[in-house]
Amino acid sequence: MNSFPAARPRRLRRTTALRGLVRETTLRVEQLIAPLFIRHGSGVSRPIASMPGHAQLSVDMAAREAEALYELGIPAVLLFGIPAHKDALGSENFDPEGIVPQAAAAIKRAVPDMLVISDMCFCEYTDHGHCGVINVPGTEGYNPALGEGYLLNDPTLELLGKAAVVHAQAGADIIAPSGMIDGMVATIRGALDGAGLQHTAIMSYAAKFASAFYGPFRDAAESPPSFGDRSQYQMDPANAREALREVALDVDEGADILMVKPALAYLDIIRQVKDRFSLPLAAYQVSGEYSMVKAAAERGWIDERRVALESLTAIARAGADMIITYWARDAVRWLRG
Ligand code: PBG
Repeated sequence: MNSFPAARPRRLRRTTALRGLVRETTLRVEQLIAPLFIRHGSGVSRPIASMPGHAQLSVDMAAREAEALYELGIPAVLLFGIPAHKDALGSENFDPEGIVPQAAAAIKRAVPDMLVISDMCFCEYTDHGHCGVINVPGTEGYNPALGEGYLLNDPTLELLGKAAVVHAQAGADIIAPSGMIDGMVATIRGALDGAGLQHTAIMSYAAKFASAFYGPFRDAAESPPSFGDRSQYQMDPANAREALREVALDVDEGADILMVKPALAYLDIIRQVKDRFSLPLAAYQVSGEYSMVKAAAERGWIDERRVALESLTAIARAGADMIITYWARDAVRWLRG
């Protein structure tokens, strides 16, 4: 009775209404997070060549963009800063007058209910482009055993804690540490609590892979490493068990929201994290996932809308509760037909 000819799955695919009734995954506008790139100046909207449709925005323009996104129903923005000046420690990241604190404050003034998430990493702010303090002979904390250029873990933690407090005090609702530094969640939680910021949440880039899909982003955020790559701190794309261990550590350290990044090439990780952990799960559909489709669509090889919605649906189906996506604005338009 349960096989053909009695069983005909196509019965439920016959009409739009039937397909709607049995659809298992529905994308919601309220689960989309829009990244914004902020630079100094005013009235600035500088297109990002590798990410058509996106631009680096000055604080005033970012506040206007946040207003427009909020009106569309998008609940959150993720901020990346392009500093006025870079140095070895990335000091603009913990400057209360720095670019992200300014943007967070301006967005909260313009749209108090928009959630502001601050990407907490040093790569945009350091002159060497790495995500923290580098092992250099003659500087504080130098450790000859680790080799020159190694990213020093614990000195970086100290700066992350300091910067997280500055961003939260400026208005960030959520701090999103993205450097894959051991202990980053515990340190940031401790620093926030120590400053009376117990209600600031932490969205941890818990399983972030050393991915070539970040290519266009490094152009957008002006953050390519000046030497080497990020494989001494970000994860090997080959490892799934290690990803679960990374996630478990962040859960223990007090993360409120977990993240897997990139998204489409890591759906297995999203699913495994979803099945094993009960915290809300974010997935980051990264710059390369966006730009590849844009480039192919420009050539007429692929239908951007359909590919974008199919990818976003797949990420939600795999288990993501929320998705960081460069298609956030377009997706609202597409989802509302
Ligand atoms: C900062 C950071 C990166 C991305 C998000 N936060 C770059 C990197 O790790 O190299 C990538 C986002 C994207 O590609 O869209 N560490």
